Amino acid sequence: MNVLLTGGLGYIGSHTAAALVAAGHTPILLDNLANADLGVHDRLAVVGGVELPFVCADVRDTDTVARTLIEHRVEAVVHFAGLKAVAESVHMPLAYFDANVGGTLSLLRAMDSAGVRQLVFSSSAAVYGTPRYLPVDEAHPTEAITPYSRTKLHIEEILADLAAAGEWRMVVLRYFNPVGAHPSGLLGERPQGTPNNLMPFVAQVAAGEHPCVEIFGDDYDTPDGTGIRDYIHVMDLAEGHLAALQRLFAAAPALETFNLGTGRGYSVREMIAAFAAASGQDIPSRVAPRRGRDVASCYADPSRAAAVLGWRAKRGLAEMCESAWRFQTRKP
Ligand code: NAD
Ligand code: UFG
Repeated sequence: MNVLLTGGLGYIGSHTAAALVAAGHTPILLDNLANADLGVHDRLAVVGGVELPFVCADVRDTDTVARTLIEHRVEAVVHFAGLKAVAESVHMPLAYFDANVGGTLSLLRAMDSAGVRQLVFSSSAAVYGTPRYLPVDEAHPTEAITPYSRTKLHIEEILADLAAAGEWRMVVLRYFNPVGAHPSGLLGERPQGTPNNLMPFVAQVAAGEHPCVEIFGDDYDTPDGTGIRDYIHVMDLAEGHLAALQRLFAAAPALETFNLGTGRGYSVREMIAAFAAASGQDIPSRVAPRRGRDVASCYADPSRAAAVLGWRAKRGLAEMCESAWRFQTRKP
């Protein structure tokens, strides 16, 4: 399969590229480098043993995307490109609607004109808002708590209308909390500036780059009072995209939605302890006020992906932390 990965040099895109190469497919990477660097392209060549086609472009450049689809005989697209910092979206909603909704519309127009109508879309567990029951299945009501999650919901609605109009085959993947890195230590998550997310920050504290982890609230209604999330190894997530792509080429409905999570939640304190054990480092922490708009607990019911895609997360918490630590210390 020739598969275009928009945002292919990003965290999840690069791991998916590695998984596609390992399975014998050809990913074509398109990225505007807003949150990635070209070194990822070089390291992907080392990991996969092959230099992948790379187009430096913005998904909002419809003509370039359409030309790329035709030139590389693309059969399906995985759309990762977009902005993802939840707190930032509250202050910069226009940038988020432009990049995420505008970017998706541009991509869809390019795909339509090139006659490529098979898409896997990166959505988020953020679309569930505050969980009304746990674990969260795909039928759980959706709710936009932030502009970021609203962009994902708008896009999901656009895809539903497109599916109803015919010709398109699409899979929406709602990711829970991806963590960890490629086993080589060559690919991983390297956010620009101070990380917003828990695990990249914990890794940097373990490496001595910050004095301590701030635990955002220890008075939630959870066993140890700290927030619970469904952390999933990024390689498991990457393999979920392979399963979704295979599904597109089967006799599948026009649009299907799947949770990609493990089904198991861990608290902030449990994550810090697991990372300390995996890295052998002391990880100081202190309790800080709650972060606005955080939910107490969110974890997936992943049974639909298991039943329909034949996909399940296989890697455990130790492997998530060990691989993230390898990437952190190797600093490729
Ligand atoms: P990332 O920032 O590492 O990757 C996104 C990539 O897209 C980056 O390489 C960036 O340079 C590129 N990009 C951004 N805007 C672009 C544009 N307009 N044109 C072309 N390229 C552009 O993020 P990620 O963690 O790999 O996330 C990928 C997708 O998964 C995003 O859509 C994100 O919203 C979604 N998602 C991520 C998480 C998470 O916790 N990482 C959770 C749920 C959903
Ligand atoms: N947390 C801390 N200290 C930190 C950072 C986070 O205590 O320094 C806590 C949060 O309060 C939360 C948990 O760690 O309880 C996880 O927080 P993250 O920021 O790592 O992840 P979120 O669940 O808030 O959000 C992430 C992505 C979203 C995505 C969502 C899907 O940032 O884009 O997972 O579940 F939508």
